Amino acid sequence: MKERQAKGTRPHVAILSRKRSLYSTSRLVEAARALGLRPTVLDTLKCQMLLGPPRPRMLYRGAQLEALELALPRIGASITSYGLAVVSHLEVMGVPVANGAQAIARSRDKLRCLQLLDSHGLSIPRTVMAHRSTNVARLVEEVGGLPAIIKLLRGTQGVGVMIATTMEEVKSILGTFHGLGQDLLIQEFIAESKGKDVRALVVGDRVVGAMRRTAKRGEFRSNLHRGGEGKPVKVLPPEYAALAVRAAQTVGLAIAGVDLLEGKDGPKVMELNSSPGFEGLERATGKDIARAMVKHALTLRGSTGGLRPDV
Ligand SMILES: Nc1ncnc2c1ncn2[C@@H]1O[C@H](COP(=O)(O)OP(=O)(O)O)[C@@H](O)[C@H]1O
Ligand SMILES: [Mg+2]
Repeated sequence: MKERQAKGTRPHVAILSRKRSLYSTSRLVEAARALGLRPTVLDTLKCQMLLGPPRPRMLYRGAQLEALELALPRIGASITSYGLAVVSHLEVMGVPVANGAQAIARSRDKLRCLQLLDSHGLSIPRTVMAHRSTNVARLVEEVGGLPAIIKLLRGTQGVGVMIATTMEEVKSILGTFHGLGQDLLIQEFIAESKGKDVRALVVGDRVVGAMRRTAKRGEFRSNLHRGGEGKPVKVLPPEYAALAVRAAQTVGLAIAGVDLLEGKDGPKVMELNSSPGFEGLERATGKDIARAMVKHALTLRGSTGGLRPDV
């Protein structure tokens, strides 16, 4: 297939994203064009869903969307609810999606992900959750004592991840958030990872790029949004790659940014991101991550989407 092929014959691919100017979105558009496709960026919040005879349909800027071959969802955390509705609507319309709504929903809930990973025997940091701030000493003991990590269930970019070094801190953080109606996880602090983690980008059944992120001085969170620095990992140990791929498959994600901590007894999965930004990774590794994503998504045509619709 070539760029110059007539518009009508090029497969129409939708990229769901709030803005076409975002790095990852514009790179997916470029990659899709280079692969001879006809990409359209659809602002997720402008997609309108129609149900009822003759069949489920979607309106975009007043026009009915026709003949969509494929959709690549990039759903930001701030629009999870509407975004999930749009993705599942595309699924009922029979449009293959690179990541299905159910898998994206799971990935947005850190406890749900850890439950799935643990029940499938994947290595994770010890984690507890309780609705009230009672029995706190026992809970902290369960995760290996102090310091302990405390996390909101639904956070991204490091916001909502805290460290408590005394029991008083644990109690005051839990009390504050429970008082606001927020549930929290208490997690084993993997001290030996020393403010570093590995972000592995999984596409299908392989890791297409990985980087080691190092937190800035005085910070334990290595997120790039928190000032962390990313360096390419040239050869990811097979144990890390296999764990990242298994984690993505267990949650049902065909495309996932998997965050791994480097524990003394091997890698541990911390969380999965279903719409991973890849600007840092492309810049750090020089790899064409966008092309790998679009190419993999193309293999899903004729299927109903994600790898494992029902886990
Ligand atoms: N259990 C832990 N032990 C050590 N560091 C952690 C732990 N959990 C999180 N971190 C640090 O905090 C960062 C953010 O945590 P993460 O669970 O990935 O939340 P977010 O969704 O906000 O990125 C991680 O990249 C890591 O550097
Ligand atoms: Mg993270």
